[in-house]
Amino acid sequence: MRAVFGDDKGRLDRLRGLLTNLTEVVNDSSRLGKLALFGPRWLERSRGWREAMAPVERAVLDEVRRRRAEGESGRRDAVSMLIEARSEDGSPLSEKDLRDELLTLLTDGPTSSSLAWVFERLLRHPEKLARLQEELLAGEGGRFVPERFLERRAAVPTWIPFGGGARRCLAASYAEQEMKRVLRTVLEEVELQPVESRAERVTRGAIAFSPAQHGLVMAKPRTPAYA
Ligand code: HEM
Repeated sequence: MRAVFGDDKGRLDRLRGLLTNLTEVVNDSSRLGKLALFGPRWLERSRGWREAMAPVERAVLDEVRRRRAEGESGRRDAVSMLIEARSEDGSPLSEKDLRDELLTLLTDGPTSSSLAWVFERLLRHPEKLARLQEELLAGEGGRFVPERFLERRAAVPTWIPFGGGARRCLAASYAEQEMKRVLRTVLEEVELQPVESRAERVTRGAIAFSPAQHGLVMAKPRTPAYA
């Protein structure tokens, strides 16, 4: 939210509530099932989704209008960058385009299931978790590299979580940055243990495959400061 809206505590708190609500509504398993079956048009018509989405759209539009009224601000968050963006003919984005671009940045699914897998896999391979933790605590800047790509950089068609054909995830580097940030923060602050030694089953959601227990862990504060 800060990357998109900048640091403004009051606004962020309000938006956090709205986005949490929207996420809960969208992640409802029967709704996700129907989304997979009937497609996005069905979701757009669903009342629960519209009621959760409308206030988010309004909040995003309010922010866009407020910033436009403010004029040049020198801020470097996504709202300001998009407001100041111009197409080849010099025209700015329409309000609707701005709203849609910003909502894409604020609502996303695969990052959380990817993170659930990161924790599920690392906890089943304690030696790799320990190595990552050592690197993080030594302040070495997160050099963690999966072994299979140590020799040379994976070519685009080899490593395809973000797609590898004519299209590709628009936010691949943003999502990687987000996951590294979460992983680093969690591992610096708590010690993790698996709840079961067995790997979690793979379950299929509407959008992504997830660990059946969402990457269930036991967490112990690393230092009293975090208790
Ligand atoms: C770990 C997290 C993520 C994974 C694994 C992932 C994966 C993908 C994949 C596989 C595609 C389809 C590529 C294709 O059509 O072949 C895609 C498309 C897309 N993703 Fe992501 N994504 C992630 C996070 C995000 C985030 C955080 C955003 C937005 C902030 C995002 C926005 C998009 C958009 C807009 C497209 C459509 C691009 C287009 O069709 O031109 N993704 N993503």
